[in-house]
Amino acid sequence: MPIYESTSEWISLGLAGPLRRRAVAFLRSHRKEWVLDSGAGPGVSSRMLLEDGFEGIVGLDPSIRLLRFARSRLARRFCPIVGVAENLPFRPGSLGAVITCFSLRDVVNLGLSLEEFARATRRGGALAIVDIGKPDSGFWRALIGFYISRVMPVLARVLIRGRTPGNPFKMIITTWEKLLTNRRLSDLIEQSFGPCVLKSFFLGGLAVFEADRFSVWKDILQ
Ligand SMILES: C[S@@+](CC[C@H](N)C(=O)[O-])C[C@H]1O[C@@H](n2cnc3c(N)ncnc32)[C@H](O)[C@@H]1O
Repeated sequence: MPIYESTSEWISLGLAGPLRRRAVAFLRSHRKEWVLDSGAGPGVSSRMLLEDGFEGIVGLDPSIRLLRFARSRLARRFCPIVGVAENLPFRPGSLGAVITCFSLRDVVNLGLSLEEFARATRRGGALAIVDIGKPDSGFWRALIGFYISRVMPVLARVLIRGRTPGNPFKMIITTWEKLLTNRRLSDLIEQSFGPCVLKSFFLGGLAVFEADRFSVWKDILQ
């Protein structure tokens, strides 16, 4: 677990931390509300939220092991919940904001997860997503695809140096393959959650999506 954050930082060319902090800054006006960290894992983003003065974080993840680790580091203001983004155990409008870093690409049903974020977030709330990106342009997509499938696993293996069995970072390859391109994901977020601003980094290989929870057509029709 301790090597997870440092390896992520290296393979993202030093951008993972700053992009997480950028997402935290976008959500700052919701510091006093409940904020969901979906796919919290070992609690890297939750820790940054708490350091920034956020008062109540719900860390959701299917892995009890990862949540136990996060809880042991973060103490009482971090409330762990075992679950999945596709089926959130919250009342409609009960959250001020949602953050999900390097975990949206892991969900089985992307559309359902975004619908659930929208349902559980109050109107006027916000959603910040940080993830590996898939460039819209075929040329950059091929280049980033090469980095993800050929360069990144070698870099990760060197950094891990046998301290964990196998190479868990190889999982990124299959999740990247099924990703939507950045623009298509941004459009999907707009349809289910509300207006979304897309910021691309590292030639589109990393992306931050910042969305505000306003009524969308789906809400009006319901
Ligand atoms: C790469 S880790 C990211 C952890 C953390 N958010 C971070 O920024 O370092 C991806 C996490 O997503 C979780 N995950 C997988 N499927 C999920 C789902 N359907 N809903 C929510 N989280 C999920 C995994 O258990 C894992 O902890």
